[in-house]
Amino acid sequence: MLSVKKMISSSFVKSIVVAAALLIASMSIADGNQNIELAQLSDGFNAEQKYMASCFACHSTGAAGAPKVGDGMAAEWEPRLEKGMDAIVANSINGINTMPAKGLCFDCTDDDLRAIVEYMIESSQ
Ligand code: HEC
Repeated sequence: MLSVKKMISSSFVKSIVVAAALLIASMSIADGNQNIELAQLSDGFNAEQKYMASCFACHSTGAAGAPKVGDGMAAEWEPRLEKGMDAIVANSINGINTMPAKGLCFDCTDDDLRAIVEYMIESSQ
């Protein structure tokens, strides 16, 4: 019971953090920089839920050599992060080797996928 409560409150906190980040992003656009695009996250998007639905099957177990997600898994991600976040996100969108395009999340936008990848890396510290 306690751990369920913890999960709910931590994803609630994450949504607040995401909402605050979006607010700051939209404020800096209002400041006059018209080249920045607003993040196009799907309505009701939740990175943790989408990860559990689409990516968890491979990335929790390391199936087919997938980098594992979870506490203490930073070493799985370090060599990948050397490519830079944009390259990693592009590989998630287009697929790489046995990693399927969009991680099989066909209703995910590119920004949804970026948010899931950020969630995966943050959860692997
Ligand atoms: C069918 C299994 C499978 C599913 C489902 C899957 N992945 Fe992967 N993923 C892999 C494998 C295998 C690799 C390693 C590919 C390689 O580098 O050879 C990988 C690699 C990655 C990488 C690292 C890419 C890089 O540039 O190093 C990211 C990020 C990633 N997946 C994100 C996701 C996301 C986000 C989802 C869900 C939306 C997802 N994956 C779903 C198997 C999967």
